[in-house]
Amino acid sequence: MHDNRTTVTQFIIEEQRHIQGATGDFTSLLNDIVTACKVISNLVNHGALVGVLGSAGSENVQGETQKKLDVISNEIFLKSNEWAGHLAAMASEEMDEIYPIPNSYPRGKYLLTFDPLDGSSNIDVNVSVGTIFSILRCPGSGTHPTADAFLQPGVKQVAAGYALYGPSTMLVLTTGHGVNGFTLDQNIGEFILTHPNMTVPEETREFAINASNMRFWDKPVRRYVEECLEGKEGPRESDFNMRWIASMVAEVHRILTRGGIFMYPMDSKMRASGKEGKLRLMYEANPMGFIIEQAGGAATTGTQRIMEIAPKDLHQRVPVILGSKQEVVRVEQYYQEAGGDI
Ligand code: AHG
Ligand code: MN
Ligand code: MN
Repeated sequence: MHDNRTTVTQFIIEEQRHIQGATGDFTSLLNDIVTACKVISNLVNHGALVGVLGSAGSENVQGETQKKLDVISNEIFLKSNEWAGHLAAMASEEMDEIYPIPNSYPRGKYLLTFDPLDGSSNIDVNVSVGTIFSILRCPGSGTHPTADAFLQPGVKQVAAGYALYGPSTMLVLTTGHGVNGFTLDQNIGEFILTHPNMTVPEETREFAINASNMRFWDKPVRRYVEECLEGKEGPRESDFNMRWIASMVAEVHRILTRGGIFMYPMDSKMRASGKEGKLRLMYEANPMGFIIEQAGGAATTGTQRIMEIAPKDLHQRVPVILGSKQEVVRVEQYYQEAGGDI
């Protein structure tokens, strides 16, 4: 039985064989990322036993309190990925500036962005968290990478993925040829292909949104959610279910498994404080948008496809509405119908 098991390494190597001019660099980079995710998974798993829970007593560039595991996971990603010569630089939610590969190592042709621990408010209460990553090509020679090198729209991503540290640890990956899911076999320390060709089910009656912000939402979002809540008796003629895990990785994974829509939309409170959204474009919205689109779903701000946004800033925030295509298109339609009246 074990003869048929495909490890993530084998899967990536076989996938790269179909790509002309592939040098093995990319395969090797993905392997280092996979290793980092295994190390983080192990720490998340051991939690309080290894003293990694709780606050780090610091803030990141976006003014959010950092958890110990935010900082540790960030360090693990840097150390796993800096030495092999595939990257020119890295950027992360937890670092103000980009991290050019130190001079003691060779620099390569790729850029890596990541959210080392997504949903970290969940960590102390033992609920699912994850890691999100995105790989871009470094424009130019890559010898002196700057933050500008990262400012590429999501359509330029070479690969994106996430690790979900849930009841089992999973890795979900796209290199632009569909989406595949792997489950970590703790006994042998390998991710095994368990969810080939993941697709977002089209038919869905489940939405995810933080309803505590309802009074601030844009009108089109209120309209969408209100219609869902009206159930069988309302215009949708169907009862809807609701979820909110506060971990985008876990929400996206649920949507890949059983469909649904996830929204962290623009709202009046953010507008008033000059914020352009909650989630970050470069290491949350773009990689998840890529994965969801590759699985047949859609990802939008309400008025623009996420992956077509031209980034202005490394830590830029955007509104995010993603999931089953028909539902996402419906929200977009509501934005169109509203015109400027939001
Ligand atoms: P992070 O832990 O990396 O800061 O991201 C948390 C994000 C996202 O995963 C989640 O969907 C959202 O923030 C939760 O926000 P609320 O606490 O406002 O619900
Ligand atoms: Mn996050
Ligand atoms: Mn995070």
